[in-house]
Amino acid sequence: MTAAEPLSAVVLISGSGSNLQALIDEAQRGLPIRIRAVISNEPDAFGLERARHAGILTRVLGHRDYPTRDDYDEALGTLIDEFEPGLVVLAGFMRILTPALVARFRGRMLNIHPSLLPKFRGLHTHQRALEAGEAIHGASVHFITEELDDGPLVLQARVPVEPGDDPDSLAARVLSREHRIYPQVVRWYAQGRLRLDASGRPVLDGRALDRPLQLDELTPEQIR
Ligand code: GRF
Repeated sequence: MTAAEPLSAVVLISGSGSNLQALIDEAQRGLPIRIRAVISNEPDAFGLERARHAGILTRVLGHRDYPTRDDYDEALGTLIDEFEPGLVVLAGFMRILTPALVARFRGRMLNIHPSLLPKFRGLHTHQRALEAGEAIHGASVHFITEELDDGPLVLQARVPVEPGDDPDSLAARVLSREHRIYPQVVRWYAQGRLRLDASGRPVLDGRALDRPLQLDELTPEQIR
């Protein structure tokens, strides 16, 4: 028997691409995905360098070149489809997606957000968590639906806020957890263990998730 083909994936970025790097690193250690392309809406995104360095095809699709969000997302959907991905991974892609784009990739598009959703949707999550006096902050991986920074939650990492934290120190600790949870969720998906059911609930290993899994509670079977 031959090993299953790796799942083809397209990664969307806008910036640094450290989550992209975590996926590249894990793919080199056996995460069963093949990143067919990295697409950025920003030409200067450092993540493009990371992709090139790893020998991955890159594309820039600048949103400023399109008159409307609908036009841009139509072009983006067409570009993504050229690579026939089984999975579309948003890794710091700083755009609100149109319902048409979301529908096009429903059930095969993931996002990571730097908060314990549903808390702190949108931007500046670390600063807002500090201002709110949160004791625990974190990050969430979810399927994409029409809601901004929301959608069926799969896995979260909780990160304690420490005395003296500022938004940068907190962001750095959250980011290091992001680099654990995103490859884990992508692994489940690529292994065929994770899907979105007809009612829009994530299902892992045949069990519907009514609430997100937590990184520090995963069982050895789940981590495999
Ligand atoms: C991450 O914090 C991610 O959760 C958010 O944007 C940031 C992207 O970081 N959506 P990077 O580009 O992966 O380094």
